[in-house]
Order: sequence, then structure tokens, then C-alpha cells
Amino acid sequence: MFHGMLEEVLAGLRKNPKSLPSKYFYDRRGFKLFEEICELDEYYLTRAELAIMEVHGSEMAKAVGEQSLLIELGIGTGEKTRLLLSHLSAPVGYVPIDVSQDMLNDLADSLGREFRNLVVIPVCADWMGNFELPMVWDSAVKRVVYFPGSTIGNVDRLELVNFLRKIRELCGRGGGFLVGMDLKKDRATLEAAYNDSRGITAEFNLNILHHINKALNADFNLDNFRHYAPYNEEDRRIEMVLISTCDQEVHIGKETIRLDDGEPILTEISCKYDLREIGEMARGLFQIKNIWTDVDKRFSVQYLVAV
Ligand code: TRP
Repeated sequence: MFHGMLEEVLAGLRKNPKSLPSKYFYDRRGFKLFEEICELDEYYLTRAELAIMEVHGSEMAKAVGEQSLLIELGIGTGEKTRLLLSHLSAPVGYVPIDVSQDMLNDLADSLGREFRNLVVIPVCADWMGNFELPMVWDSAVKRVVYFPGSTIGNVDRLELVNFLRKIRELCGRGGGFLVGMDLKKDRATLEAAYNDSRGITAEFNLNILHHINKALNADFNLDNFRHYAPYNEEDRRIEMVLISTCDQEVHIGKETIRLDDGEPILTEISCKYDLREIGEMARGLFQIKNIWTDVDKRFSVQYLVAV
């Protein structure tokens, strides 16, 4: 169990509308399901980002520079990280930050075998919250924060400037931010990506309840919820929701949570950006130095320099 999980889960469910912290998608089963999402026909994001990295990997490495310290927020399959690392020139270290110690250990092991000279320093922390790096790397020319996978879309727009401020602190003046962002596009394409025909995304969304049941001994009945992920045009974001399909009660710890038939629980948002939007939001903190996109302009990887 994560420290403070019970309090965080209850705090979300006491709100109106109800919500759950999205980091709890990712137990081992959640990670597996997410890997499956990344391979779905409808989920263009991963393929587009990988294609961008394959074409522009060496330019990205040039932007990151020699003898940089690479810090990654959250870990996925490591595929994009491997691509980037394979192009980097003499990085002084790689610091993956994630809430899952298991996943961190697995990644550190496999990267250590593949990149013999790479110093890997895993940090187990919630990068959405406050954390500190365990050491200072004096030998690094600069620090670069790597944030692929459109995870920045999962940060609320209202929180984005604060979030960028934290990244700016983490990488320091002259440091960099290499970020993958999904771009605004037609509703049909977006909704298909989060409502796949095989129902894997639905399973992934429901898995948050399964994880909470296991970790907190709660009694969510997964048959009484359905996955729903509409595009909210006004807020330019996909909203991942679980809808209660009946009036029901759920027990967590000592608390009873009541849900009405049709009541939503918000589990995740995925904001979609215009190509230059992040530059405006990061004003005074970062400047866009490079923008790379795939041929269809669905997705973008950008390198921002801390000012
Ligand atoms: N970073 C991914 C995204 O915003 C996360 C994601 C993809 C996701 N599919 C999901 C989160 C379904 C919750 C449910 O695209």
C-alpha cells in the first residue's frame, strides 16, 4: 500500500463531483493494461511519439547536450527512454522518479545491463507532489527533465504553471525540459483513442477500483460501473470517468460512500494542446527551443530551455 492512500482515496470520494487520484491506476496489472493500450490501433499517441523520436532522436540528444543529468518523471515501458539514451553523449546519470519501487528496480536492472557505463539512480517518489533529489551532481553540465507519453496532459491546465515552476526548479537555470504532448484534433480521433473497440481502456479504467479493493480492502463491485471518456471541447481535454450504473454503497476503511445511479467518478484528464501553447504558459520559466512533430501533426515532442 502507498503511504496515505486511504486518506487520498477517501478525500477524492468525499468531493462533489467524486474523483480518484490517477496514480492508483498503476499496480502491476495496471501497468500491463497500459502497455496494451499503447499498442492499440486507436491509441495513436505512443506510435506517433516513437516515430518522432526515431526520426529526430539525434537532434534531441544534441539539444540535451553532453554530460547532462537526465531526470525522468514517471516510468513506462522504457522504450522511448532507451531510444533517447542510445543517442545521448556521455550523460552523467539517469534519475527515474516513480511511485512504484518494483517498476523502478526492474528498469534500473535492465538499463544497467544495456547501458554499461550509465549511472542509474532510481528515486521512489510521487513526482506530482514535493520531493527532493538525493544528491547534487556537480559534474553535470546541466539537468534535463524528460517527460514523455503526454503525461503532461494529465496535469490540470489550472495547475500547469505551478507544475512548470517545479520543473524549472528541478532543472535549474540553463537546464532543459524535453516533453511529449498530444495535440488538439478532431473529436472522433480523440474519443476513439480513449474508447477502444476491444475495451482495454475500459478495463484499465476499472482497474483503479480493483487496485483500491485489494490495497484498502474496499468492496467496489466492478460490474456496477462503466467506463466513459468523452472529449470536453470547452476545456480541451478527454475526461476519463467511471459511471455508477445503479444506486449503491461502497465501504472503504470505516467509511460508507454512496453513489447514485449515473453518478460519475473522475479518474483522469488528458489535456490536448496547440503547438505553441506550452510556450505561452511557460512564459518567464522556459522558452521553446525545438518543436518536433510526426508527419500527421498528431503529436509533438518539444525541448524547452529554462530561462
Ligand atoms: N498519459 C496517457 C494519456 O493521457 C494516459 C492514458 C491513456 C490514460 N489512456 C488512458 C489514463 C485511459 C486513464 C485512462 O493519453
